[in-house]
Amino acid sequence: MTETNSLFRQLHSYGETDYYPYHMPGHKRRQLGEMPEQLLKADITEIDGFDNLHQPEGILRRLQESANALYGAQETFYLINGSTGGILTAVSAALPRGGHLLMARDCHRSAYHAAYLRGLKLSYICSERVEGFEFHEAVTPAQVERALDSEPDIGAVLIVSPTYEGRIADVEEIARVVHSRGIPLLVDEAHGAHLGLAEGFSPGSCTLGADIVIHSVHKTLPSVTQTALLHLSGDLIDRERIRRYLHIYQSSSPSYLLMAAICDAMEIVETQGRERFAWFRQRYERMLERLKTCMHFRFVPWQDVERCRQDIGKLVIHTGQSGLSGKWLYQTLLERYHLQCEMAAGNYCLAMFTMADGEEAYVRMEQALLELDGQLTQQGCGWQNELEVYLPEPVIVYPMEQAWDMPCKTVKLSDAVGRPAADFVNLYPPGIPLLVPGEVLTDSIYRQITDALNRKLSLQGVEESDGEAFIKIL
Ligand SMILES: Cc1ncc(COP(=O)(O)O)c(C=O)c1O
Repeated sequence: MTETNSLFRQLHSYGETDYYPYHMPGHKRRQLGEMPEQLLKADITEIDGFDNLHQPEGILRRLQESANALYGAQETFYLINGSTGGILTAVSAALPRGGHLLMARDCHRSAYHAAYLRGLKLSYICSERVEGFEFHEAVTPAQVERALDSEPDIGAVLIVSPTYEGRIADVEEIARVVHSRGIPLLVDEAHGAHLGLAEGFSPGSCTLGADIVIHSVHKTLPSVTQTALLHLSGDLIDRERIRRYLHIYQSSSPSYLLMAAICDAMEIVETQGRERFAWFRQRYERMLERLKTCMHFRFVPWQDVERCRQDIGKLVIHTGQSGLSGKWLYQTLLERYHLQCEMAAGNYCLAMFTMADGEEAYVRMEQALLELDGQLTQQGCGWQNELEVYLPEPVIVYPMEQAWDMPCKTVKLSDAVGRPAADFVNLYPPGIPLLVPGEVLTDSIYRQITDALNRKLSLQGVEESDGEAFIKIL
């Protein structure tokens, strides 16, 4: 085998040798169907010379060390089950069974799932709305401090930064607050694997004091779905517990194609990152400058990027005073311009940009938005009201980890007001819960759900039948 750091090159060379596979996977590197032969040839298992992710001592260990050097943590683990596996692991390892977790309410569902599996007590931080926009900020150091003051038995803190819409938290200050209590800070940086890798980008949480940082490599770097990283620093988290939970939550047959994709993304960052990131930032700024002429659409101001509070990976296109819904904009960009955005919400839609985009990404988005903006009238054709901000303080009747297992029944949404929910209700994407099992469907959440249904936003946990909405209650 040639000595190279690229896992793909090693897999490719191996695929060209005459070693016959009397082992898994069952395709035996032969193309019997539609799956491209090149992929099959590189898809192996833990055979001699290719190490084992669950006990890395060779190439996989070296690759994890290279990723670690790039981000500046103390130890890095490749994840082949997305940030989902990383968050399950981090939360499970950071606290004993039944421990108390303080978490941002906008955490991904995997954080709730970890809490369920480990019987954790949960306290939430419900962050403020971004001024002038219909989504929320990242959590602040003051919010974390207040929550820790009021509940001294909290054993770990989990925050999301950047948020789905790209808001970035003051992680350095939050880490200082959390560490002053002797407990660890976990940062779900799934949307920020590109942070800290180049000049002009906000620093990443690995260098800002976080004890665990989780990155989805596939979200914002050139890699394939399910690839992610978990980084560990400091001595507040037991490393053996991290390993234990990685074994539990990840496949015992990690895909070499996925691991090779992580390796490839790291190599791209190392060899092309400086140039590509610089161009990305410059071109994005130019796009925002051009879009300033829009009369209707509004964008998060560039100053927020310069203050390291907004990530440029996310272009939030707010429909402004046009009265149009985010869904209308999303559909129009899709159908008229063939621009497939990431998501639509009440009055904005979200487009993602990464280092892999070229000029076309910017030109097509600029042209479409400038043209649409010019055609809009003040009457609009959507919804005149704003969606209520969707991170209300929950009214908790039963702890989630009990409520999810309690007997339940399905009732009309309107009959469920005032009753505790039996299942999660999420707007998807991003999958942030409006309701967690055991929490009361208040009037305000009821209005948000019906509003979201009217706008045809995608809701999980609410079933529609014959024009009627139903949810599960306890
Ligand atoms: C904030 C956040 N964290 C974690 C995840 C899970 O990431 P993955 O898809 O890599 O499992 C997501 C997925 O959308 C997310 O939005």
